Amino acid sequence: MIYLNGNFLPIEQAYVPVLDRGFIFGDGVYEVIPVYSRKAFRLEHHLARLQDSLNGIRLNNPHTNEEWCGLITQLIDYHVSEDQYIYLHITRGVAKRDHAFPNNTPPTIFMMSNALLTPPEELLQKGVSAITAKDNRWGRCDIKAISLLPNVLLRQLAIDAGATETILLREGFLTEGAASNIFVVKENKLFAPPKSHLMLPGITYDVVLELVETQCLPYSVRPIVEQELRSADEILLTSSTKEILPIISLDGKSIGEGKPGPFFYKLNQLYQHYKEQTMRGKQVSSF
Ligand SMILES: Cc1ncc(COP(=O)(O)O)c(C=O)c1O
Repeated sequence: MIYLNGNFLPIEQAYVPVLDRGFIFGDGVYEVIPVYSRKAFRLEHHLARLQDSLNGIRLNNPHTNEEWCGLITQLIDYHVSEDQYIYLHITRGVAKRDHAFPNNTPPTIFMMSNALLTPPEELLQKGVSAITAKDNRWGRCDIKAISLLPNVLLRQLAIDAGATETILLREGFLTEGAASNIFVVKENKLFAPPKSHLMLPGITYDVVLELVETQCLPYSVRPIVEQELRSADEILLTSSTKEILPIISLDGKSIGEGKPGPFFYKLNQLYQHYKEQTMRGKQVSSF
């Protein structure tokens, strides 16, 4: 079952009019929320980021957090998998085609849940490869906008090259991946690019920084130049569905020893532990 504008229904029966501004302009925002053991992970943080995205495109939030929570709980209940990921999508609704905002138009609200398959152990042992590309996106990459054409094109460059992710560089600085945040490790210290309008504030990114802070692992949040990325001992990729992945080659050249490094193993262990701890006994409706 999916959720569309107040109803739960099979996806085959769900339709959106062609004049929806999501279809016409990509005028909307979205969230992706992982669900472990039927409990939404960091839900409050995802809903807070959703609110920031809605503020960024000047669209009212159609629901309170309690209402979102209730709808998400129902959606999770409908799905057979214990681990899922929720895709939540809001557009500026259906209106005659005109760039200007329509008046009194209800938003289109769509949610679906799919089985979450986290990266297999084998991939974590082996690591993945990445390429780099110029970050040619707009100046508000902090908004989780559904208009993802640049991200789609950039990510496809990686697929075409047989790699997993495209790491983006803007004016000589690391921003993020086409669909992930990127961290660098040098001499056993973690480096993270600071949040700005030029990257999405990842929920997983925040968890990683909380973990290194509470575990007193050395880290620094500061701009990272291209050369630091290329000469890193380790590069780590994070996202809600991929969790933490070690990048072992960049543009065909080995990173560090060309295999997942000690910082990755430590951090991933902490992350998996944190996941289990927070999910144990915590209900989705914990507001
Ligand atoms: C461009 C971009 N940056 C970062 C992320 C990671 O964000 P999160 O950890 O909240 O999934 C994503 C997630 O899909 C993304 O699309």
